[in-house]
Amino acid sequence: MSALPGGISSLIRRLPDLDGKPFKVANASGAHLTDTFGSIYIDYAMAMGATILGHASPPVVEACIRALRNGSMPGFSHDGEMLAAEALTSLAPALTRATFLTTGSEAVHLACRIARRSTGRPVIAKIAGGFDGWYDDLAIGWSGSPEADLSGRRPVIRDMTLLRFNDLADVEALFGERNDIAAVIVEPMLANAGSLQPDPDYFKELQRIARKNGAMVIADEVLMGLRLGCGVSCYSVGLEPDLVTLGKAIGSGLPVAAVLGTSEAFAVVEDGRAPRAGTYHGNPLVTAAVKATIDTLQTMDYPAFLTRGATLRRAIEAAMRKIGPACTSGYGSVFSLWFSERPPTTYDEAKAALRPDLSARLHLELRRRGVVTIPGGWGRVFLSFAHSDEDLAATAAAFDDAAAALHF
Ligand SMILES: Cc1ncc(COP(=O)(O)O)c(C=O)c1O
Repeated sequence: MSALPGGISSLIRRLPDLDGKPFKVANASGAHLTDTFGSIYIDYAMAMGATILGHASPPVVEACIRALRNGSMPGFSHDGEMLAAEALTSLAPALTRATFLTTGSEAVHLACRIARRSTGRPVIAKIAGGFDGWYDDLAIGWSGSPEADLSGRRPVIRDMTLLRFNDLADVEALFGERNDIAAVIVEPMLANAGSLQPDPDYFKELQRIARKNGAMVIADEVLMGLRLGCGVSCYSVGLEPDLVTLGKAIGSGLPVAAVLGTSEAFAVVEDGRAPRAGTYHGNPLVTAAVKATIDTLQTMDYPAFLTRGATLRRAIEAAMRKIGPACTSGYGSVFSLWFSERPPTTYDEAKAALRPDLSARLHLELRRRGVVTIPGGWGRVFLSFAHSDEDLAATAAAFDDAAAALHF
């Protein structure tokens, strides 16, 4: 029995044993992981999307070392948090306020608190099948959970309720049923249900209906922020939210998240009605990581990055189509593989298209060939700026080989 339950701090991140051997990382550098047996892998989990510049990105590491040497936890105000807040607000002109937290879940928690205090209403609506963090009230409707099916009456649990993705009639129905919705929280794509993409006018209309009914709009970009360009991703899908939550990529793997918002939305933060109180919020170590990450990303060629992702998608699809139907959904730097003719666009379609055994076997065959992916049908491929052309070519070859080893 391990002192650490399940042998890991978050069960979602545990990989299956391969040929009786456990998978533990000894080193993470650039686009590569080295395990405790010395084997090297091309990584497509990339810290669940957190390390968009690659693992141990030198400018971020240097900035963090400087911050550590200077005292990582003075406990009082310091210039670093202001510089990092300005770096984030520069990414979204309408969102002029930013505040730091430690995890994405905490950022969503604060965004919901801001919406509740701003509107005086209790209920937040999230998308069924979405993941907006693991805090008690938000932990409903995850993909695979019974409530995500929305088969009976719409559930309201701990002041959270659910909406069907890509279903505008359901948005109208929700606001017809209730007049106590403080906010609707949506992701630019339903990433944790297999990268489901919104219909062209879905978010624009959802937002119109929410606002007409006095509710705020929160874009949860903990996963999607900085993925489509050096900025927030919501505008490219027609969303103009009051609040945006960020996490993962903004800190290159350091534990930091943020809420960005309009000055109107942040009024309740400024006057203390929506309090924040975290010992580690905005400490110099993490804000140095944020500033170095944004500064570095601003020098990166995003169009080329997304094109490389599209090329990888095509290579993976071509490899898998040799043995059956296959397609991908999502965007160049984060996408999911489906064993179907066309990508699902609703949660129900996604659930029906799942092939858990095949996904699990593919994960193991790829690992045998030096490629690590997030296992499971709901998983995603995360590309980083550190993946080289050689990495992509080796990955395509590994998928080719792995496909040949599978029979379906
Ligand atoms: C969209 C989204 N929101 C919130 C979270 C929670 O973030 P964290 O794991 O940092 O608490 C995640 C994590 O995967 C996420 O993908």
